[in-house]
Amino acid sequence: MADTIDNLLHEARRFPPSDEFRANAIATPDLYDAARTDRLAFWAKQSSSLLHWSKPFTQTLDWSNPPFAKWFADGELNVAYNCLDRHVLAGNGDRVALHWEGEPGDSRSITYAELTDEVKKAANLLTALGVESGDRVAIYLPMIPEAIVAMLAVARIGAVHSVVFGGFSAESLRARIDDAEAKLVITADGGWRKGKVAPLKPAVDEALAIDHGDGPATSVEHVLVVRRGGNDVEWTTGRDLWWHEEIAQVSDEHTAKPFPAEHPLFILYTSGTTGKPKGILHTSGGYLTQAAFTHKYVFDLHADTDVYWSTADIGWITGHTYVVYGPLANGATEVIYEGTPETPGPGRWWDIIEKYKVSLFYAAPTAIRGFMKQGRQIPQARDLTSLRLLGSVGEPINPEAWIWYREIIGRDATPIVDTWWQTETGAIMVSALPGITTLKPGSAQVPLPGVSVDIVTDAGESVGPDEGGLLVITEPWPSMARGIWGDPDRFISTYWEQFADKGFYFAGDGARKDKDGEIWLLGRVDDVMNVSGHRLSTAEIESALVSHPLTAEAAVVGASDETTGQAVVAFVIIKDSQRANATSPDDVALELRNHVAQQIGPIARPRQVYVVNELPKTRSGKIMRRLLRDVAEGREVGDTTTLADTAVMQVIATAVK
Ligand code: WTA
Repeated sequence: MADTIDNLLHEARRFPPSDEFRANAIATPDLYDAARTDRLAFWAKQSSSLLHWSKPFTQTLDWSNPPFAKWFADGELNVAYNCLDRHVLAGNGDRVALHWEGEPGDSRSITYAELTDEVKKAANLLTALGVESGDRVAIYLPMIPEAIVAMLAVARIGAVHSVVFGGFSAESLRARIDDAEAKLVITADGGWRKGKVAPLKPAVDEALAIDHGDGPATSVEHVLVVRRGGNDVEWTTGRDLWWHEEIAQVSDEHTAKPFPAEHPLFILYTSGTTGKPKGILHTSGGYLTQAAFTHKYVFDLHADTDVYWSTADIGWITGHTYVVYGPLANGATEVIYEGTPETPGPGRWWDIIEKYKVSLFYAAPTAIRGFMKQGRQIPQARDLTSLRLLGSVGEPINPEAWIWYREIIGRDATPIVDTWWQTETGAIMVSALPGITTLKPGSAQVPLPGVSVDIVTDAGESVGPDEGGLLVITEPWPSMARGIWGDPDRFISTYWEQFADKGFYFAGDGARKDKDGEIWLLGRVDDVMNVSGHRLSTAEIESALVSHPLTAEAAVVGASDETTGQAVVAFVIIKDSQRANATSPDDVALELRNHVAQQIGPIARPRQVYVVNELPKTRSGKIMRRLLRDVAEGREVGDTTTLADTAVMQVIATAVK
């Protein structure tokens, strides 16, 4: 084991682009030069060449009220038109937009012309249901074509979508519906997962029935239900409508109206350091510019020949930017898949790559590490020769996984782009550019052209080579978040206060610069965990734990995990009055693990719950999670001198063993 770790840290191989790749690469080194010479002119040029502006912008950036940026503000465009109609008008209507693969093996290929018609109908339907420009629509759907149709239809009429990952609980869904005051929920009866139908509509019913003491009334007027799982669902007459029945009654004529560049496009909730998820707000012109730019250059997209596949769910930012907006704005042909990678067997993803001849593939390190465990025979039994570029996102990729990804999936030939970004950045910020950058396994490497990133000390000073610090973004960028829905102060305090004097955006990630000045991500520096590339907040899970009648107090840490990067480990104190009901720690752990899954969603289910008598606290009462992490990771417990009671860690460590 020690050997391998040593090996990883000393992975010194470097991978320059092949001559063949370089010769056909979309990205050229002059992009960096152009952006360095005049960053704003660079973005203005990208925006006008990548998008169709109904009214061209004359102003690139308005930064007069930082940190609330306005990009291309006097221009007007329709985001859905950019992703659909214009490709049809350009003669590419017959090009496949989506190759959709259902988990049970059913599939549909949908051309740009067909997708445009579907979205037009859906836009008419939304309008008929009273959805207007600026209204919020919650989308709680599996990975089926209707999910993309719904998002684009909302965008087309200038409404604002809030996609909620189908794995989130009724409670989480309701919190997001309430925060955004959504008028409509678009869901499905259920979707296929792990060989069976996972119901969704019942969670919507439950969410809308939750009564926190002020009555069950909500902002929701209608629930539009796509039939997918075929499972029985309850029906609230007047409120609930079947998608297929309603869509059959509307016209497929719809003219997309332009909206100002800063018109809101979507809200996406992400975990923060407090219990309440933040509704990250993105707008239209700047977001779409950077989505299209990064998708084209980072993935070396040749839209007329490539088949692109991002395995992300639309419930996450990767699904927004690199399943929906980037690829479709660029007129790409892409695969979307409904189910899990191991259904019906462990090679399902590789079967899909073989079937559709996927050439560009984008996935998360957790998945790669999972495949490594299953063994190389599984991918090697498939024909993966169509692949010519691989991407990684969501968490640091360890060099060992990087090398495996390249050797086993990429035939030791394809470039790998390790892309660093966040829900808040809207698009990729740090990544190699294929055909240009010499690749370094484990490092996200360099800021993209037009993006200004630095690694700084707590005081905001640039760190030197081979030093670590905090990752900041030093200049505004087109796809930056425009705020937190309904909470501008929190937007400022979370991201902009730390380095207020410098005007830097603080990403919450630690990072190191190497001797070449290239960037290595080291993980979060706040109380946010990254489990399988999904952000979870310790505070949110702690508050779910204490909402259970057994729990008096809880502390949650992210402990390193071989497959998922980090795993949720909880320490709980049982209420004195409940001790008699909690005699078996195993039963308590099971009960509480399930409770968290039910409150937040299965992704938040702790790997372990330890029952303890005390938590390590400083004299001012702050829980020292660092020490709990030592215990959770089986390490010698670190410095305990600031604890109010220095003996407590001894007791906890013994209890855990
Ligand atoms: C982490 C996902 C290392 C990071 C796109 C960031 C990464 C958080 C990488 C954002 C990467 C994302 N290397 N860490 N290539 N990509 N992260 O909002 O901690 O779900 O702050 O966006 O994931 O997670 P989010």
